Amino acid sequence: MNEDVLMNLVNDAVGDFGSILTGALVVLGDRLGLYRALAAAGRPLTSVELADEVDCAERYVREWLNGQAASGYVTYTGDGRYRLTAEQAAAFTDESNPACVIGGYQAMLAATRAVDQLTDAFRTGNGVGWHEHHHDLFCGTERFFRPGYIANLTSTWIPALDGVEEKLRSGARVADVGCGHGASTIVMAKEYPNSTFVGFDYHQPSIEVARKAASAAGVADQVSFEVASAKAFPGTGYDLVTFFDCLHDMGDPSGAAVHVRESLTPDGTWLIVEPFANDDVADNLTPVGRVFYSVSTLVCTPASLSQEVGAALGAQAGEGRLRAVVAAGGFTRFRRAAETPFNLVLEARP
Ligand SMILES: C[S@@+](CC[C@H](N)C(=O)[O-])C[C@H]1O[C@@H](n2cnc3c(N)ncnc32)[C@H](O)[C@@H]1O
Repeated sequence: MNEDVLMNLVNDAVGDFGSILTGALVVLGDRLGLYRALAAAGRPLTSVELADEVDCAERYVREWLNGQAASGYVTYTGDGRYRLTAEQAAAFTDESNPACVIGGYQAMLAATRAVDQLTDAFRTGNGVGWHEHHHDLFCGTERFFRPGYIANLTSTWIPALDGVEEKLRSGARVADVGCGHGASTIVMAKEYPNSTFVGFDYHQPSIEVARKAASAAGVADQVSFEVASAKAFPGTGYDLVTFFDCLHDMGDPSGAAVHVRESLTPDGTWLIVEPFANDDVADNLTPVGRVFYSVSTLVCTPASLSQEVGAALGAQAGEGRLRAVVAAGGFTRFRRAAETPFNLVLEARP
């Protein structure tokens, strides 16, 4: 036994205890408007002033502030007052900023709530469906991914595809499959007003939220949302079919690939955005890989196992395994069109 190695493990664990608990405190701060009130104040506030602003009990707010200050998410100014720096305000209140982490906390904390269901699932091998999770997972996922779609989708990812941007500008038909709350669908619809979009997801409550979001965004005449699975969504002759962060959640990704191939025009494009991963496990043992393998254990792998076939690609499938899925669908062309530290952006063509 090497005592130094053991103490390093214990020190890492103390950091992780803080991370787990801080996740809950961040979600409380978001739900109760604590960050937003601190940011809006424009000056350091006491716990009494902040509690007054958000109509909460001061004793709770004081304890929350000290926990957040210890995390470095709120700044203690040393005189019983607390403020948000510009960077803290961006990360915890500005959902138009790609650096906003609030949705990530909401989704990750929701994922951890599945630990009881997963204790059984590990033993039986049965799945836990996406729809069986706490509703914060659906809302948090949308909030986490939307800033990235706003930052990358129409400025980088679609222009990286062969000839797709031109088609969308002049008027194309697009299916956004596994669309969740429709963040990606709506971002595309706003940028390409001559095109029409239909979002499909098997999760009825998400489709209802997506419909309301399209109306609120003023794109309801261009966008519709329907409940359908990836292997059976209606329509043919799509110029573009998109799958954002959902192929690996599906039980039968190869079956979905076959259906996408049949639904596209002969000249169409399948855009697949998946979590960034290398092909070899050893190359994914990074801070980002840690998050993705963990969320994959709690959400993505059980989601796939809950569906027919249960291929369980996992959120760290990597390009090689995704290429095999695409080839099984009858696609003859496949390439990595773009990437970010968090995303693989893949183009498949018939
Ligand atoms: C991680 S979420 C991504 C949602 C959305 N694309 C986004 O980027 O915000 C995965 C989505 O895939 C959907 N999904 C899972 N299996 C599906 C299937 N077989 N057919 C259609 N949708 C599916 C889930 O309901 C969920 O909305």
